[in-house]
Amino acid sequence: MKNFIIRLKKESDNPGVAKLIMDSLNVWYRKNRGFESCVPSLDAASIYTRIYDALDPDCCVVAEDAETGQLAGSCFFHPRPTHVSLGIMTVAPEYFGQKVSTKLLAYIVDVAERRNQTLRLVSSAMNLDSFSLYSKAGFVPRAMYRDVLVAVPEQGFDDSLDGATLRDATPDDVDAIVALEQELCGVDRTKDYRFFIENRDGVWGVSVLVNSQTGAIDGVMCSVRDPGCNMVGPGAVRTQEQAAALIKRELNRYKGQWTPIVLVPTDCVELGREIYALGGKNTETHVAQSLGESPVRKGVIIPTFMPETA
Ligand SMILES: CC(C)(COP(=O)(O)OP(=O)(O)OC[C@H]1O[C@@H](n2cnc3c(N)ncnc32)[C@H](O)[C@@H]1OP(=O)(O)O)[C@@H](O)C(=O)NCCC(=O)NCCS
Repeated sequence: MKNFIIRLKKESDNPGVAKLIMDSLNVWYRKNRGFESCVPSLDAASIYTRIYDALDPDCCVVAEDAETGQLAGSCFFHPRPTHVSLGIMTVAPEYFGQKVSTKLLAYIVDVAERRNQTLRLVSSAMNLDSFSLYSKAGFVPRAMYRDVLVAVPEQGFDDSLDGATLRDATPDDVDAIVALEQELCGVDRTKDYRFFIENRDGVWGVSVLVNSQTGAIDGVMCSVRDPGCNMVGPGAVRTQEQAAALIKRELNRYKGQWTPIVLVPTDCVELGREIYALGGKNTETHVAQSLGESPVRKGVIIPTFMPETA
């Protein structure tokens, strides 16, 4: 059995981590699903180190082969006031099956335990390697999602909704957005919303839905548009009808560009119907899992892999 040094990522590891992410996902998907993953190049894979080094510096743990110095695996994590999220976990294909991810996970479980917080993640229900890793560690599935690919036509989708105004979020909306998400699913991601709305990378979109009667923000929906990740989410919305309008507004940012995915909760039947009516195609299924207590969800909660939430 090989020995691995488990340590925090340094900036000089970044090219190695990007390669790890690209190789690991592509090899796994080619072998198990018969197609390439959504990370087509090293440049695309670098979105993870670029964004996460800015958002959560010193929150990536790597496994280094003690003999050769080669990077064998990496995993990001995102500490927040209410919880810790576990981000993209990857192991180099030549190290698959050698408990590298088990060691990386143990490090992050320890981070969450020291903070006395729940550890949350979204894992593929079709990737038995990753599902087994988390279920062996005691994670419990809390919600199920279908990953739906939606090709957005040149003219976009009609995102209007009676009784509501949809618009881009501003920094002044952050407090209301955070209060809404806390009420619906008990997580505080003030930092993320500030980061998305500031949009220094030019890859984020954030829409809010304002209830015309009450003037309150009833929903938020974000998106990321980058060669390394194209998806709608995270989102927290009171009703399925409102969620559909917000998702369509974020999808409209992709007109004539890449085809994004959106993780639609399997128990949101009306919302699912709306997304399939747009031509959405199921491509995978994911489960939101947590290690530790997880508040009951209300409304519609849309997760994302960037940065991963559950
Ligand atoms: C998923 C992935 C990270 C797993 O990494 P790995 O280092 O090969 O996994 P490990 O060797 O640590 O095995 C994980 C655990 O699952 C167990 N396991 C694997 N398949 C299992 C099965 N069918 N049933 C039960 N347990 C199983 C292993 O025995 C191990 O548990 P143990 O340490 O208690 O023995 C790796 O396959 C990978 O990088 N895949 C591509 C990228 C990816 O899919 N990432 C996850 C989504 S972002």
